[in-house]
Amino acid sequence: MTSFDAVMQITKRPPIVFVAGQGSWLTDSDGRRYLDFIQGWAVNTLGHSPPAIAQALSRQAQRLLNCSPAFYNDQMVKLCDMLAQHSGLHQVYLANSGAEVNEGAIKLARKWGTKYRDGAYEIITMDHSFHGRTLATMAASGKPQWEQLYAPKVAGFVKVPMNDLSAVEAAITPRTVGVLLEPIQGEAGVFEATDAFMQGLRALTRERGLLLILDEIQTGIGRTGKLFGFEHAGTQPDIMTLAKGLGSGVPLAALVAHRDMCCFEYGDQGGTFGGNAIMATVGCAVLEQVTQAGFLARVTEAGLYLRSGLQRLSRKHGCAEVRGRGLLLALNLGRDISVQVAETALQRGLLVNAPRPDSLRFMPSLTVTDEEIDQMIDVLDAVLDHTAMA
Ligand SMILES: Cc1ncc(COP(=O)(O)O)c(C=O)c1O
Repeated sequence: MTSFDAVMQITKRPPIVFVAGQGSWLTDSDGRRYLDFIQGWAVNTLGHSPPAIAQALSRQAQRLLNCSPAFYNDQMVKLCDMLAQHSGLHQVYLANSGAEVNEGAIKLARKWGTKYRDGAYEIITMDHSFHGRTLATMAASGKPQWEQLYAPKVAGFVKVPMNDLSAVEAAITPRTVGVLLEPIQGEAGVFEATDAFMQGLRALTRERGLLLILDEIQTGIGRTGKLFGFEHAGTQPDIMTLAKGLGSGVPLAALVAHRDMCCFEYGDQGGTFGGNAIMATVGCAVLEQVTQAGFLARVTEAGLYLRSGLQRLSRKHGCAEVRGRGLLLALNLGRDISVQVAETALQRGLLVNAPRPDSLRFMPSLTVTDEEIDQMIDVLDAVLDHTAMA
């Protein structure tokens, strides 16, 4: 029996040890296989251990791992170019995690406020938003459970309800420097910012000389069927953050900004591993795959297929709505049974996430097949039957 005593207990983990993964499937230390609709929390864009990443890692490991962030390396430059070109923004800072680039976005906004907005520093964020677990990103997040945690809080964040443009307008003061939001609130349980709200925010922030900062850590890199979530509403941000899907399983994140907002001076921002060649090469490989002809159209198609399967289950089991876009979807079960459903699903070899007591979240690999979606729906169907009888 494996001992977990040396692993710091920061979350409740089942006593399963995963040792391998391929595509949509994980294998544990007893050789049991699991169908994975969590994929590292919307991380593994191309599924487990995809050949494109294995090859990129092995090629780069033999060329150059890291030459310090004080020097350029070819993979860093290539990835920054690709991100700038695809996003329509201009400059990129590479880092290791979502929280780190959100922290970077907050710093960049504050620096810009100091230089161009008379010291404005406050950022308007959304109720129930999630931006990471550093002190500043926790303060920026609208998670009610965090209100009292780790006092004193980092100051400078004002919360408003999502999809309420007049609340944003009312929260603007001379101290405001920008608005930060997720196009779809993933951790909250998959709640979309409407296209009208995004367009209204873009117009309002332009009119008031404020920054629009999009946290695309969960929605970026094809997850919603477009390369970036902002494309659905056609609203380009001033600053965007990416992580999760960009590394497709390895720690890689990017702060992407319009040239007019790139006002860091030497020493304002940095980190030992930022832009290292071995992770940057993976980012390039992921982007090359996701931007191939037909890839995103297939994500949209798979998303619609998954949605229709979930809607079928919802009708059969008396659940409520399906939320989300592309391959970031949630099913409202209509009652607070999601934790029990996810636990039973795990026992039956299916990984699904329960972000709220009443909802399940689905974030499979973007390469998931229709057969795997059918298998997932069949297991969930049986689990819901079982839960109704229990
Ligand atoms: C929208 C969003 N922002 C930020 C983060 C934090 O990213 P990381 O866990 O890589 O720090 C997450 C992680 O779930 C996220 O979903």
